[in-house]
Amino acid sequence: MPSDLKEQESKREKWFSESGWKGNPFTLCINSGIFVGYEAQINAAMRHISERHKIALITGPTGAGKTSMMKWIEANNSIKTLYIMKPPAKPEEFIQIFLDYFSLNFFEKILGRKPNLYNLDAFVNGRLKGKQVLIMLDESHETNKEVLEWLRVIVDQIDNVSLILAGLPALEDKIRHTLETFDQRITSRIKLAALSEPETLELIKKRIESEGGSGIKPFTDDAIREIFRKTGGFPREILKLCDRLVNDAIENGKNSIDEKDIGGYREIKEEPVAAVQQPVQSLSDLPQKQKKILDALLQKTWLTPSDLAEQLGGDYKSKEHAIRSINNILKRLMDEGLAQRESRGKAFMYSLTPKTKTLMVES
Ligand SMILES: Nc1ncnc2c1ncn2[C@@H]1O[C@H](COP(=O)(O)OP(=O)(O)OP(=O)(O)O)[C@@H](O)[C@H]1O
Ligand SMILES: [Mg+2]
Repeated sequence: MPSDLKEQESKREKWFSESGWKGNPFTLCINSGIFVGYEAQINAAMRHISERHKIALITGPTGAGKTSMMKWIEANNSIKTLYIMKPPAKPEEFIQIFLDYFSLNFFEKILGRKPNLYNLDAFVNGRLKGKQVLIMLDESHETNKEVLEWLRVIVDQIDNVSLILAGLPALEDKIRHTLETFDQRITSRIKLAALSEPETLELIKKRIESEGGSGIKPFTDDAIREIFRKTGGFPREILKLCDRLVNDAIENGKNSIDEKDIGGYREIKEEPVAAVQQPVQSLSDLPQKQKKILDALLQKTWLTPSDLAEQLGGDYKSKEHAIRSINNILKRLMDEGLAQRESRGKAFMYSLTPKTKTLMVES
């Protein structure tokens, strides 16, 4: 090791040992023992499992804590749980995934009774004997249509299976556009975004204490407030910023980190989202403005926001105001799976999803 590197290393070790730290608390490793906040989301997921619902989605931007939440659920529930790190590329791979979990017995092995895709349900049902199983699939936004179709079959054919998919926010739209029948089976939509200020403090404190340190030391209370402000409470960003701040402190031979030390770091902005979104059960519960737009789309399909603004009129200050407001409503309708959009030429055009059309024609 070059001598300056060695020197840095020993400086670091000295600083850690003076703080009582066995190691760096701010590595990005996932520790299911240190999971803070997201209480509403955890409750929704646990309810999904205990009430034996079929499909839940956990979505959130990168670093929000999706994998961490799945690991926490895996460690904190008492039913059989299969955690799949990423979706298989081909449906056939499900066979191996299940075989790794429910291995073949002696007779099945010598008789070559390996299940295939078409009797996988009977194989798994035979193993489960009516017990519940939880399947969690991470990185689900990478699932292709064929695999999604098989997931739907698995959910329909295996008794007592609950499925939780986690992925980037695009997952919701992807499912809606790829496989309507899968979308219709989703009963919980859980969104992860960011921790609150007290939760940010708790995350930092628990991380430090797990390495033998005490409380939030070397950070001051003001520093924590500033870390929260800069990171927006985004878990991975909190850890990364804390790691950089500790490195700077070691570099500058300081043993306290204050608000002023954080000034130079960039602020991260994220849109706030609702923690748990239940799918709309009945169209009559929708706000008036959303209903009006659905009605217009039922009369004439594939309209632009500008077409809608003209048709609906209303008392807006200008057409621009009207379009902006209509765009917001359309976004909400799409989030709820009630409307869909397509890019046609320069404009986006909107229509009802097949599900909404059926619901509206029936009512
Ligand atoms: N609620 C939480 N409590 C404690 N630590 C968390 C929490 N959420 C996330 N973290 C930490 O933040 C980091 C990022 O979390 P994680 O890897 O779970 O995010 P992700 O949403 O799965 O991201 P990606 O989309 O990139 O896979 C991890 O180091 C994890 O330990
Ligand atoms: Mg992840």
